[in-house]
Formats: sequence, structure tokens, C-alpha cells
Amino acid sequence: MIVARSLNELAVPRHGVVGLVPTMGSLHAGHTALFAAARAECDLVVASLFVNPAQFGDAADLAAYPRDFEQDAETARTHGVDLLFAPTAAELYPPGFATWVVPEGAAEGLESLHRPGHFQGVATVCLKLFNLVRPQFAWFGRKDAQQVAVLKQMVRDLNLDVEIRVVDTVRDEDGLALSSRNGRLTATEREQARAIPRALATGDPEQARAILTAAAIEPDYVTVADLDGPTLAIAARFGSTRLIDNVLLKGSL
Ligand code: PAJ
Repeated sequence: MIVARSLNELAVPRHGVVGLVPTMGSLHAGHTALFAAARAECDLVVASLFVNPAQFGDAADLAAYPRDFEQDAETARTHGVDLLFAPTAAELYPPGFATWVVPEGAAEGLESLHRPGHFQGVATVCLKLFNLVRPQFAWFGRKDAQQVAVLKQMVRDLNLDVEIRVVDTVRDEDGLALSSRNGRLTATEREQARAIPRALATGDPEQARAILTAAAIEPDYVTVADLDGPTLAIAARFGSTRLIDNVLLKGSL
């Protein structure tokens, strides 16, 4: 596996099918499922590892985001990644950086009400990564369903020459969606958080709300929205940790 830690070092061969898997590191089986899906369809699998400051509203959340480059590089290497691109924030956002993608439509509501500016940061960094790597395909997880909807909208609206591929949510044995943030949960919070997949399994917002209430969870939202398909989505806080999860519903809205 080639590691490029600066823009200068990034040289993407232009023959064959190039796939990109953008990540913020702290890699787990959700990320490696994306690597496997890319591996199955591409000649060259590029993964990016970049904790994007532009998508964090809260400086403390950004500072607390887990970072372990050596461990992540090992995970990427052993899961089929050919090229790991891990630039610095100073290089992606140099002094004078002042051009942003400001998504509307799919970016409105849900996460945006609780994380203003979040999707502006996500869309901007993904457009930069698409331009730097120029992949034919880019893989994202359904776990972040609104992110998928926003990025598909950006590709459509800005006529980008990349196809977004979506991989189903990878879950732990107890049903909790894998997330880099799960490691911050206390044992009690983890136990409480298991109500989220149980609530989603009902496929019904009223029943989902009742299950969360019974588990003493006051969610940020429980809602059905068109996020790349009709989706029941939940966000809730457990102490300082905020988790999101969703399930695709059958039929239409
Ligand atoms: P990150 O949270 O590292 O996630 C990288 C990719 O892994 C995203 O597409 C996310 O949806 C997917 N993913 C995370 N947990 C998953 C799970 N349990 N099952 C399946 N896929 C999962 O999402 C981001 O980073 C950033 O916003 C990024 C797109 C890299 C832009 O900075």
C-alpha cells in the first residue's frame, strides 16, 4: 500500500477503474466493508484518512475525535486499500481558503438542525477529494443516510463525473451500528443505546419513540424522511456522545 501524506505525494495512476473511500480514520468493520465493496469493483482502491475540521461545529468534539494513524494504516493495508491519502488540514485548508459548497435541499433538517454547517464541510471536503483523486466511483455507508443524500445531490447538481455507491450499515452483535464514537460510551450508556436499533426495527416513528422513551432516551429526532429512499432516522445523545442511525423503509413516503 502506498501512503501519500501530502498533495505532492498523491499520484493516482490513470488506467483502470479507480474507487475512492473517504474516511476520517478510527477504522472499524463499517469502513472495511466499504473497502471490500470498492475492492470488488475497482482496479485501484484509494482510501482517504482526514479528520475534516470543516464539518465539526464543536472544537471539543474535533479535538476528542480518535486518531491513530499507524493502526488505521495497518487496517487499510490488510483490507485491500492500494493507496492511503492522509493529507494535513493545513494543506486542504491553507490560509486564504474561502470557497465552499453550500448544500440545500437534502442537507436541510435532521442533522443540520443540530449540526449547523456540518454538510457544508462534508460536501466541500468530498468535492476536494473527488477532484484530487478523480475516482469513477466513491463509496459511502448508509449509516450516514443524510450524508449520502447530500452527496448524491451534489453530484447531480454540479455534474460531477463520479458515481456514488452505498453500502449497508454494519452492526455489532447487539445491533448497535458500528461508529468511531461507540468507544466513548460508558457501559450504562452502551446498554441504553441498544434501544436505538430496537426502535428502528419497528419501522414506525411512533413505536420507535415509545421504545426510546421507555429506555429514558430523549432523542434529537425520530423521523421519517426521504434520504436516498424512505428512511426512519434517529439521533440521540448519551452523555457527551451523539449517535445517529437509520433504517431504509419498504415502499415510498
Ligand atoms: P467517517 O465517519 O469516518 O465514515 C466514513 C464512511 O464510513 C462513511 O461513508 C460512513 O457512512 C461509513 N460508515 C461509518 N460507520 C459505518 C457502519 N457502521 N456501516 C457502514 N458504513 C459505515 O462519514 C465520514 O467519515 C465523513 O463525513 C467523510 C465522508 C469522510 C467526509 O469527511
